[in-house]
Amino acid sequence: MNILVLGSGGREHTFTYKIAQSDLCDQLFVAPGNAGTAAIATNVAVAVTDFPAIKELVLKENIKMVVVGPEDPLVQGISDFFANDNDLKKVIVIGPSKEGAQLEGSKEYAKEFLFRHNIPTAAYQSFTAATVEEGKKFLETLNAPYVLKADGLAAGKGVLILQNIEEAKTELENMLTNKKFGAASEKVVIEEFLDGIELSVFVLTDGKNYVTLPTAKDYKRIGEGDTGLNTGGMGAISPVPFADAAFMNKIENQIIKPTVEGLVKENIDYKGFIFIGLIKVGNDPKVIEYNVRMGDPETEAVLPRVKTDLVSLFQHVGNQTLDQVNLEIDLRSATTVMTVSGGYPEAYQKGKEITGIEAISDSIVFHAGTKLEGGKVVTNGGRVIAVTSFDNDFREALKKSYQNIEKLHFDKMYYRKDLGFDL
Ligand code: AMP
Ligand code: GLY
Repeated sequence: MNILVLGSGGREHTFTYKIAQSDLCDQLFVAPGNAGTAAIATNVAVAVTDFPAIKELVLKENIKMVVVGPEDPLVQGISDFFANDNDLKKVIVIGPSKEGAQLEGSKEYAKEFLFRHNIPTAAYQSFTAATVEEGKKFLETLNAPYVLKADGLAAGKGVLILQNIEEAKTELENMLTNKKFGAASEKVVIEEFLDGIELSVFVLTDGKNYVTLPTAKDYKRIGEGDTGLNTGGMGAISPVPFADAAFMNKIENQIIKPTVEGLVKENIDYKGFIFIGLIKVGNDPKVIEYNVRMGDPETEAVLPRVKTDLVSLFQHVGNQTLDQVNLEIDLRSATTVMTVSGGYPEAYQKGKEITGIEAISDSIVFHAGTKLEGGKVVTNGGRVIAVTSFDNDFREALKKSYQNIEKLHFDKMYYRKDLGFDL
């Protein structure tokens, strides 16, 4: 079967890498892709939210499966676009309906869903410009730090955690009245602060059944010791060592099952990944957020551990037969370390030549922000290349990733050297 992957980051290179290994895949396309996907599939210059151009590509190339990497096209309703089009409705789309994608597209929607299904999460209230004064009063009933979340998609920047009540009130005003995050902050969720260590679980559901993929922990801050600005993610470790069987049982029973059952009960069409961001408070898991896609760079550590054929898994999603699957997982640890452009997550330059990729043989190189230019691989984004390694011990796997990163070079390359410091 011919398959299309939508997206251009490390996550999508990892999908492409796994799908290319499947006997079930004939021709593989990526839109728009990067230099890494170009080496193992056909890149097509189509944007992930250009639905008419995607339709044209799917029909022209006889594509039968579309794997959606990022959240934007899902929140904009790409699954419904396929389901409601006579020429496209038989194509398997890995990604939820527009309604299901609201779990990521609206923080308030997600909180309401969590409360409806008694899934453990932080207490909250939401406010608009009309209720900004009530919002300030609500802040006064909470203890520091204060958590403010823009309701809509804000490219991972919409969450503010503030130590000081006056600052929190000012930021609330900035978000609601001055639209700090544009339309995304027309509504703001104010949440109880949860203190604990974070981890993520990944679920693949066909809308009835589900399989639980390996856990991962990502490192979001730019600086060592988890300091400085938030990024898309500087690296990830899978599995998470403290997520033992007893804790995973709680996650399954208190969070995963009620989430999937909630989707079923509410008739929400959901065929795709659920990425559940969790925090361990004492000995209990609580949900921080849902994402309706895989994480990046978590995918670069999680998917290489999945031994079950990925295309067959996706076929089971399309046919709603995931209950027939016995997921096979590589029990070793996988770690991925992200190299980024100097300056990221603020301003940085692109177009720097990357050398040393071919010198790496005992780790997997996943391209994120790269492109081909005159036969050379050059930087094309903030996050540039992720290096994934395996070992029985995550510390040894990390060592391998770090040794191999030393072989890579581009102007102002930066990476965190302390991943796993907190484990
Ligand atoms: P989100 O975009 O919802 O993942 O939030 C970004 C980050 O903010 C999370 O990864 C957490 O580190 C932090 N965060 C979000 N909500 C809370 C909360 N209620 N308590 C503590 N930290 C939080
Ligand atoms: N690494 C976090 C995310 O993909 O949202």
